[in-house]
Amino acid sequence: MTAVRRDLLPDSAEVGSSGRLSIGGCDVLELVSEHGTPLFIYDETHLRTRCREAVAGFPDGVAYATKAFLCGAMARLAYEEGMDLDVATGGELAVALRAGVPADRLVFHGNNKSSAELAAAIDVGVKRVVVDNSDELDRLENLHRTGYQAPSVLIRVNPAVEAHTHEYLQTGIADSKFGFPLDGGEAAAAVMRARASSAMDYHGVHAHIGSQVYATSSFRKALEVLAPFVEESGATELSVGGGLGVAYVGDETAPTISDWAHSVAEAAGALGIACRITAEPGRSIVASAAVTAYTVGVIKPISGIRTYVAVDGGMSDNPRPVLYGSGYEAFLARRTDADRTMPVRIVGKHCESGDVIVAEAMVPDDIAIDDVLVTPVTGAYGHSMGSNYNMALRPPVVFVSNGAARLVVRRETHEDLLRRDVGI
Ligand code: LLP
Repeated sequence: MTAVRRDLLPDSAEVGSSGRLSIGGCDVLELVSEHGTPLFIYDETHLRTRCREAVAGFPDGVAYATKAFLCGAMARLAYEEGMDLDVATGGELAVALRAGVPADRLVFHGNNKSSAELAAAIDVGVKRVVVDNSDELDRLENLHRTGYQAPSVLIRVNPAVEAHTHEYLQTGIADSKFGFPLDGGEAAAAVMRARASSAMDYHGVHAHIGSQVYATSSFRKALEVLAPFVEESGATELSVGGGLGVAYVGDETAPTISDWAHSVAEAAGALGIACRITAEPGRSIVASAAVTAYTVGVIKPISGIRTYVAVDGGMSDNPRPVLYGSGYEAFLARRTDADRTMPVRIVGKHCESGDVIVAEAMVPDDIAIDDVLVTPVTGAYGHSMGSNYNMALRPPVVFVSNGAARLVVRRETHEDLLRRDVGI
């Protein structure tokens, strides 16, 4: 296999004459010497460019879905670039607020928001609460009765549209835990109730059909299904959710954020949807902005079968291969453009066989112990879905740009782990 495709790397990635990878003008091997591995390296300019592309594509408003990757610096960056932020738990809300994002730039999501979460969101004055179900309508009514303000709401609708993606990532099919079904009349009843209620201020409709969706036709299909409902429901806003897919490996291509926005606007226009159109992308903002750097610790040939390369992270910093069978590329930071001729399986250091990073990887045949191995397109749903499995310490995050690196999340320490352990 040839060298890794350049467009899978962050925008500012460069390869020096010696073959060494730099991102944001920072040499990756030097970043590793300073911060250790595993290490998430985000290209800040790449992040800002994608945010701006989203803001330009959705002039009526666009929220960054923080579940894809969240820390204070990311929240601040998305806000600075003009995005609202989608937060789906009290925890995401707390991080965004602490980063200085004004509450009226936050869209509050969740399919099972507690009364405490709703109360906190209303107290600070979030821009929208996206209501998922009737029990949440009850909770909002109850809160209002005890003196809470009426929040601005969107009603989350399930349009029962099959998006082309992994079944775990489909959220808009009929058999789903998310939203009010459109077909059975539940969505219409919810809108009626919200419009009549003094406990909430109805603004419109939300639909999110799934994640890692490549086909803009899937979004068009959802709009077709939703158009009559949007009209009947008196919506002044329709949020099309997030879900735009990205390329992870060599043979994949994906529409750009602008392509997606353009096709949404075009379809909405053709269908006569006249209200404001908003969106909330996560993955497409952050995925290819980052790479993960690991250190190779073990190279184990099993004769006649395969060679395992074990790195110092694994399913605790990237559970996506285990959860969804997702593919990734891998290459060596010291030989970025090298041909990759040696088939290996890249695994982590966790105590189970499923702890795979790249099941069928090709790497340069001079791969050696202590080499720094890089996996690109790890900016979305890696750090955010990371865990402490085996009491692993969650990795740090650096933002790089213009030759400077800043640590935005430090590496976890054993003290961090022990601090919550209060039972002895
Ligand atoms: N809005 C809502 C209501 C969502 O549920 C999601 C993602 C988004 C926006 C952002 O979607 P995006 O643009 O990032 O596709 N852990 C999975 C992805 C789960 C997506 C959950 N919801 C993965 O690693 O592929």
